[in-house]
Amino acid sequence: MLYVKKLASLYPLLLIPLLYASTAVALPEERSLNDLFSPLIPSKFHAIASTQNPSRYPHYTTQDSGKWVYIDADTWTTGFFPGTLYLLAERTKLCKGAGKGEWDQEHWLDLGRSWSTGMLKLTQGNKAQHDQGFLSYPFVEELKVNPRNETAIKAVNDFAAILAARFSPLVGTTRSWDHDIYGPNDWPVIIDNMMNFELLFISSGLTNNPTLKSIARAHADTTIKNQFREDGSTWQVVTYNDATGDVIRKYTKQGYDNSSTWARGQAWAIHGYADMYKLTGDDDYLQTARRSAEYFLSHTPSNNIVPWDFNSPEDLADTSAASVAAAGLLILAKVEKNLRNRAKWTRSAINLLKGTIDFAWAPTWDSILSNATSHHPNNNQRTGLVYGDYYFVQAANELVKQGLASC
Ligand SMILES: *[C@@H]1O[C@H](CO)[C@@H](O)[C@H](O)[C@H]1NC(C)=O
Ligand SMILES: *[C@@H]1O[C@H](CO)[C@@H](O)[C@H](O)[C@H]1NC(C)=O
Ligand SMILES: *[C@@H]1O[C@H](CO)[C@@H](O)[C@H](O)[C@H]1NC(C)=O
Repeated sequence: MLYVKKLASLYPLLLIPLLYASTAVALPEERSLNDLFSPLIPSKFHAIASTQNPSRYPHYTTQDSGKWVYIDADTWTTGFFPGTLYLLAERTKLCKGAGKGEWDQEHWLDLGRSWSTGMLKLTQGNKAQHDQGFLSYPFVEELKVNPRNETAIKAVNDFAAILAARFSPLVGTTRSWDHDIYGPNDWPVIIDNMMNFELLFISSGLTNNPTLKSIARAHADTTIKNQFREDGSTWQVVTYNDATGDVIRKYTKQGYDNSSTWARGQAWAIHGYADMYKLTGDDDYLQTARRSAEYFLSHTPSNNIVPWDFNSPEDLADTSAASVAAAGLLILAKVEKNLRNRAKWTRSAINLLKGTIDFAWAPTWDSILSNATSHHPNNNQRTGLVYGDYYFVQAANELVKQGLASC
């Protein structure tokens, strides 16, 4: 045990292979996993957060030099950058060693708060449509630190109300998009929408309004019925008729073609249903998270480089899909009842993170990772993505919280 401890302090993540492998694992191979807690991560976020104007938010990077491209607050991705600053505040408490970086928790909280301020106006209405959960991230994190912050409470409740107002009891879902309308009764729902429901549970807890939870459950149930194929894969978009609730069409917007499986969509399904099971204990959600994960993992190549679309012949990766899936798998592992499954989800998450680091660690870029694909073929590929970085940091923190890594 002493031997393990000593090695573990030199190579913190060695503990992980020891838990899952019966034979010794070669050290050099595992060392890249230490980059999960590289001091470069806080350094990069500090450099941007302390020099840029917090009214324009990092979104994606340029392809060649990895410089952030900034967007206005009223965009669905705005919460990820301040959200990451809060995750780095959490990391200062989780990490004892170099991984926590040179700044303390208060410093990160100051940055997280100042970068959230520009988002407050969005609580009065915004263009993010279903993505209110993503917008709420920094305010949800603020409540973990200070549950009595009235500004954050109000922001969370306002975002939840905006999402809840998009619910149709007839269709049984919230409406994802106001665009992509082909006919007068179109009601488009995308698999990404499953990521936004923890917000409704949190707001339900703050307001004692049970309707918010029912909306989340109805949407999750309707999506299980219509958005999954037999093999556990997903369509990105299902359009319903808002007058009858019937399915009109199923297709893709960001993937390769209408019958293919867009990898980030499948990752949203893993994370979203793992969240739903965590929040409700409902077995249907556990089964759905498992099916989503099985499909994702059985279609990811052994080098753990996740393609942009599982059915595309192109050699194009999406590291944001890998990060979202790894973070989702770790949540699933935490709540999974079956111990063999639990070990599988944990091991797979670690493999995805390791594969992603080996492939796309980008020391000279503003972002942590390269090789993410936002939209293809719309010339938005092979970049950093602010949400790819966010879930990468979330996954690494989760490993520490579950006692699977130290940093
Ligand atoms: C409360 O939260 C808001 C929004 O996250 C933040 O701007 C503000 O600084 C926080 N207030 C305190 C006293 O920490
Ligand atoms: C995919 O589905 C959409 C929506 O039904 C349709 O507009 C588009 O033509 C389809 N694409 C192909 C290649 O069939
Ligand atoms: C990863 O990014 C590099 C640099 O842009 C690029 O040359 C390479 O083709 C990308 N690989 C994949 C699989 O996307």
